[in-house]
Amino acid sequence: MNIKQLCICASLALGLACGVHAQDQRDYHQPLYEEGCDSCHDQGMNKFPSDEACLQCHDPAEVAEQTAREGEEKLQNPHDSMHYGQDAPCMECHGEHTPKKALCQECHNFDYPKFK
Ligand code: HEC
Ligand code: HEC
Ligand code: HEC
Ligand code: HEC
Repeated sequence: MNIKQLCICASLALGLACGVHAQDQRDYHQPLYEEGCDSCHDQGMNKFPSDEACLQCHDPAEVAEQTAREGEEKLQNPHDSMHYGQDAPCMECHGEHTPKKALCQECHNFDYPKFK
């Protein structure tokens, strides 16, 4: 059995992702992978990307608008909240290779149907 097979075995057995290249990739970011890992990894591969990396392509005011809510749910906007305004770092909630939970869900039961 070679390393790769071993790796697949271990993943199947343990339900774990195996090695960097077998990591989850988000479909919506596929073109970035074609550009190279450093389209996000501005701090080298041994660190998480900085928030600035995401901000190259995503505008906080724009995402806040996309997730705006009406009426009594108005303050539940994850991108413009009473706790953090528009300043919460993207990676507090959004994972790329690993699934994450939206930070707000740790304390609230708000419904976020568009969350990825
Ligand atoms: C080089 C440009 C680029 C960078 C850097 C980038 N993204 Fe994206 N992102 C995109 C594009 C293009 C899409 C797909 C179109 C869209 O939905 O805006 C996308 C989609 C998304 C979506 C899903 C949108 C949906 O429709 O549901 C999320 C969430 C997201 N990005 C978060 C992030 C986070 C967090 C980072 C930083 C780790 C990041 N992005 C870095 C370009 C980028
Ligand atoms: C506090 C948690 C949190 C933070 C911080 C956060 N997001 Fe989100 N994001 C969410 C949630 C929750 C949703 C889904 C909202 C919904 O379903 O209404 C979402 C949705 C999105 C979408 C999809 C919008 C759509 O209309 O489909 C994009 C793009 C996005 N986020 C990008 C970002 C970027 C870029 C950052 C950093 C500037 C960021 N987010 C920071 C929680 C967060
Ligand atoms: C769309 C942006 C994006 C792209 C493109 C991307 N990454 Fe990541 N990477 C992240 C984010 C965000 C994290 C933080 C952890 C998480 O969300 O999974 C991360 C974390 C990592 C880590 C963990 C670092 C640590 O400190 O533990 C490794 C290793 C990694 N990425 C490898 C890669 C490789 C290899 C590629 C190219 C094949 C790649 N990444 C492409 C966004 C990206
Ligand atoms: C660590 C726990 C924690 C996190 C994380 C958190 N909150 Fe809260 N939040 C609270 C507490 C405690 C209160 C009640 C105290 C108060 O009203 O000031 C509250 C109150 C609120 C309220 C007003 C009361 C209500 O339930 O309608 C809103 C809206 C709200 N939070 C939105 C958010 C959003 C959006 C996020 C994510 C960006 C978030 N919270 C993240 C603890 C948290």
